[in-house]
Amino acid sequence: MFNHVMVIGGTGMLAEATAYLCLHASAVTSFSRAPATLHGQSDRLIPIRADYSCVYEFNRTVSEVIDQYGPPSLVLAWFHDDEPALRFAKQLATLDSPFAFFHVLGSASANPGMSIEEQRRPFEGLAGITYHQVVLGFQYQDAKSRWLTHREIATGVIEAIQVRQPLRIVGHVTPWADRP
Ligand SMILES: NC(=O)c1ccc[n+]([C@@H]2O[C@H](COP(=O)([O-])OP(=O)(O)OC[C@H]3O[C@@H](n4cnc5c(N)ncnc54)[C@H](OP(=O)(O)O)[C@@H]3O)[C@@H](O)[C@H]2O)c1
Repeated sequence: MFNHVMVIGGTGMLAEATAYLCLHASAVTSFSRAPATLHGQSDRLIPIRADYSCVYEFNRTVSEVIDQYGPPSLVLAWFHDDEPALRFAKQLATLDSPFAFFHVLGSASANPGMSIEEQRRPFEGLAGITYHQVVLGFQYQDAKSRWLTHREIATGVIEAIQVRQPLRIVGHVTPWADRP
């Protein structure tokens, strides 16, 4: 059982993963711009309205949530860019408290022109962090490729949280030319 779990961007394709975390945590603070209601709403789910593109306000909201619920032991983070994700991880690293950071990454992160190892480095050096990358790939179906469904994404993320490897690929990312 986790104590405080923080989820960023967990109301869309990750909604089932957020609901799973509610079963395994005493409190799940779920950050999104719109107030979220998840299917099978749990009383452990605490929706937090916040926009990570507003740097100062987001940082302040994170601090207020930590003051209220304590430092998170687990974080599930789906940001559209690495910059706010790293800023957020750095803020958590100032707390002097260990946390597992599950960073969901879009398929572009697996572009052969980019190194997934290189992308880990700024996170791995942070105090207290155990960093996990979860890369969303594609699936083959009827001799063609397609993007993952929300269920496949959420299931892959839940498995990543259970297995706790440094890197988890959901579906396939190679051959790169096969992506939809
Ligand atoms: N490889 C793959 O198969 C793959 C990879 C990535 C995406 N996708 C697909 O692409 C679709 C679209 O992805 P998506 O990320 O746009 O949708 P999404 O996961 O359905 O929604 C994005 C999540 O991030 C939150 N969010 C977005 N901007 C935010 C901000 N500035 N501040 C705080 N929270 C923010 C959203 O809530 P609010 O809008 O309320 O803020 C929501 O919780 C997905 O539905 C999925 O099917 C597929």
